[in-house]
Amino acid sequence: MSSGQNVLVTGATGLLGTAISERLPGEGFRCIPLERKKGESTPTGAWWDPPAGKVVLDPALPLRSVIHLAGAGIADKLWTKERKGVLRESRVDATRTLALALAALPPKDRPESMVMASGIGIYGSRGDELLTEESSDGDGFLATLARDWEDAAEPARAAGIRVVAVRLGMVLSPSGGALKKMLTPFRLGLGGRIGNGLQNVSWIALPDAVGVFLTMIGREDVQGPVNGVAPGCLIQRAFARELGQALRRPTVLPVPALAVKLLFGEMGKELLLSGQRVEPTRLFAIRYPFRYPHLEGALPAIGVV
Ligand SMILES: NC(=O)c1ccc[n+]([C@@H]2O[C@H](COP(=O)([O-])OP(=O)(O)OC[C@H]3O[C@@H](n4cnc5c(N)ncnc54)[C@H](OP(=O)(O)O)[C@@H]3O)[C@@H](O)[C@H]2O)c1
Repeated sequence: MSSGQNVLVTGATGLLGTAISERLPGEGFRCIPLERKKGESTPTGAWWDPPAGKVVLDPALPLRSVIHLAGAGIADKLWTKERKGVLRESRVDATRTLALALAALPPKDRPESMVMASGIGIYGSRGDELLTEESSDGDGFLATLARDWEDAAEPARAAGIRVVAVRLGMVLSPSGGALKKMLTPFRLGLGGRIGNGLQNVSWIALPDAVGVFLTMIGREDVQGPVNGVAPGCLIQRAFARELGQALRRPTVLPVPALAVKLLFGEMGKELLLSGQRVEPTRLFAIRYPFRYPHLEGALPAIGVV
């Protein structure tokens, strides 16, 4: 295994990928983005074409680790049959392509670890059940997607690469992801509970999510699923109230469940009307130092004002 400090990052232009790429040099790593190209070279000699099943790596750049974040946006478009295919291919097929490419490297050049994104959607809709990494998978499109996504890393595991799947909750940042989408309606005073508002919202502030990925590079004692959520899970009504308070806006306008189902169909049901009460049991076990364990302090600290 290589002990170099090069870290290959897929999905490097995304919300997490940008933040992780910025943090890596300060932690003593060199970030090598795995750019999506179609046969062109890149300054680092690393590129991939996931639909073609192709990964090109420069053998002169031995890898310490791979941070794998790539995937088409889950909430970017309605879940038509075609869109579901894109969501699956960009995660399940792309992960298998990457894992096979890493496994095919000579043993001395293989990275020690592959730290991949997954999602708490793997637990399905479980009401108020407290979910840990030991909990069973759930049902539904997201649950099956996340299960198959994690399983697709098997060739890397089989080749002796330590695979960690960070099951992310909603990553909070005012500059991207779900929170950015919520800010405009909330600023206009149009925020409020969704459905009955009792669905659990497990979230993690972007700086903590970045910290979890970086921590996992060095934790040779950790493998398998790791819940990437803050300890302070809360129900959606309370989440809306906290967000309204941070923005100094009322949150009295409810969005009925029927409207969500009519507007967003299956996507609305799984992403907005269902929730998971997830505990970061493995992060507790390694005493991960959350900077933002509770939403109240997190929102102003990450720039939601
Ligand atoms: N943010 C959250 O709240 C959250 C919650 C749970 C799970 N996750 C998962 O964590 C990962 C990173 O999240 P993020 O918020 O940083 O996502 P993001 O901002 O949507 O970025 C994902 C990146 O994946 C690459 N990508 C886009 N379409 C692709 C395709 N069709 N095939 C292959 N790659 C594609 C792009 O990077 P390049 O152009 O550089 O390739 C894109 O910037 C995602 O897989 C996401 O599903 C995120």
